[in-house]
Amino acid sequence: MRSGPVRAAWLRIEETIDPLFPGGTNPLRNLGALACLMFAALLLSGTYLYIHFDTSTDGAWPSINRLSDEQPWLGGLLRSMHRYAADLFVTFTLLHLLREWVLGHYSSFRAMTWLTGVPLLAFMYVSGIGGFWLNWDVLGQYAATASAELIDALPMLDGTLARNFLDSGAVSDRFFSLLVFIHLGVPLMLLFGLWFHLQRVTRPRILPPRALMFGQLALLAAIALAWPVTSGAPADLGRVPVALALDWFVLHPLPLATSLSAPVFWSLLAILFGVLLMLPTFPDRQREPVAVVDADNCNGCRRCVDDCPYSAITLEAHPDGKPGKQIAVVAAERCASCGICAGACPSATPFRSVIELVNGIDMPQQSVDSLRRKLVDDLARAESAPVVVFGCRHGMDVEVNRRIDVLGYNLLCIGLLPPSFIEYALRGGAAGVIVCGCADASCEFRLGNQWTRERMLGAREPHLRRTVPPDRLRVMMVGRHEQGQLDAAIDSLRQNASQGEIA
Ligand code: HEM
Ligand code: SF4
Ligand code: SF4
Repeated sequence: MRSGPVRAAWLRIEETIDPLFPGGTNPLRNLGALACLMFAALLLSGTYLYIHFDTSTDGAWPSINRLSDEQPWLGGLLRSMHRYAADLFVTFTLLHLLREWVLGHYSSFRAMTWLTGVPLLAFMYVSGIGGFWLNWDVLGQYAATASAELIDALPMLDGTLARNFLDSGAVSDRFFSLLVFIHLGVPLMLLFGLWFHLQRVTRPRILPPRALMFGQLALLAAIALAWPVTSGAPADLGRVPVALALDWFVLHPLPLATSLSAPVFWSLLAILFGVLLMLPTFPDRQREPVAVVDADNCNGCRRCVDDCPYSAITLEAHPDGKPGKQIAVVAAERCASCGICAGACPSATPFRSVIELVNGIDMPQQSVDSLRRKLVDDLARAESAPVVVFGCRHGMDVEVNRRIDVLGYNLLCIGLLPPSFIEYALRGGAAGVIVCGCADASCEFRLGNQWTRERMLGAREPHLRRTVPPDRLRVMMVGRHEQGQLDAAIDSLRQNASQGEIA
């Protein structure tokens, strides 16, 4: 597991605000989804604006201005929402990038997702800044001329773009249509890029949880109503615009470039993109062994394929040659070493009467066999019926609090736990079992918590058998420092221990 002061500080901040946002709605844990939501809001509101937009140089300003003047509750509101959605899109994307960087989510199995995220930044800025051109008011004039001067400073180009803005007659309708095309075409490229970005993320959360989603949309509408966006004076290329109310969220690269000079700005940008693209190439010293398939114990049931959070498993013809029979195959470079597949496999049941519990798919560093051995030994050694706590090593450390009457096991991910281990522990003499996953929406491998919950509720295979008395089991998803909640669960299981018997 990675560590470091910046990572620790970030996690601390997320955990501090967790209580304010129950049920996995912490915005810091949903930044990619919030960015997607704002992008969707941009596409929808933008479609309405485009229907009413006049793409000629003379018609652009009045057509947009009319929306604010004549339809304040529809066109005007959508115009304002479009602007603020762009501001929030940039903000959430930059925070998303920062979070993934700080948490070290850029190498090994995440390298492709990281690398396909980097171009999205460029698309985001080009479409955002390009949106201001279309208003064709003084702010649009500033955005267009400053962008053209910046592009002209690039060494490969002939430096004539800014000439298009020399005087009022210079901006032809054809040139203006090109600006419109850029503002429509680049977001489509962004959409396509986003599809690439999420190729290796199985079941990505592209929308935030419902409460957060509606809260965010309500906030967007409230901001739009409180501070409606209006046009500045129409663009006048005969004058240099002064005292502009800049939108710093989207337009910040332009004043930055002016203050630094265009060559310095481009050089810094090239270095930044270079660093972002190089990050995945640094060797990952923490790389762990990946999942291994055992041909004799794999029947090709595809449960591991369905549960793998990074699409690392495919099915191929089984080497035993039986017609139609398949076997799981792990793509090592995609594997996150989470062990969720091991918890999904039907052969992971500890009740099997074999000396060595070989699983269809397993983790060399924490096999289900090693877990069974440890559990059996610990239960045999315990003097009184202990409470068994299965935790996750990315969450609360349940091993550090091991006592004579509490047996803790930190798993690679809580999703590694085959549900049959719960019944096995109870039959082996445990007073109760606690399944202690990480806080909602904070699973390091995204799906471990969700699959565990569903397996416990019987909504996903392998499921927990109904014969397990509910009062002998606690399933809790808590932050790393919620020791009090774990202690309370241990106490309540002790009180129930004598009541529920296993059928
Ligand atoms: C247009 C901007 C972007 C959007 C809308 C976006 C959206 C998303 C979404 C929805 C996810 C899946 C989250 C989940 O299921 O938990 C994701 C994952 C990810 N994104 Fe982005 N992203 C954007 C830009 C970026 C950028 C610029 C980077 C970094 C260069 C980046 C790096 C990542 C990484 C590393 C993951 C994987 C996280 C994991 O596996 O746990 N993204 N993104
Ligand atoms: S350990 Fe298993 S579930 Fe996790 S990424 Fe690798 S193959 Fe997929
Ligand atoms: S869950 Fe187990 S048996 Fe099923 S395909 Fe995967 S490895 Fe094979």
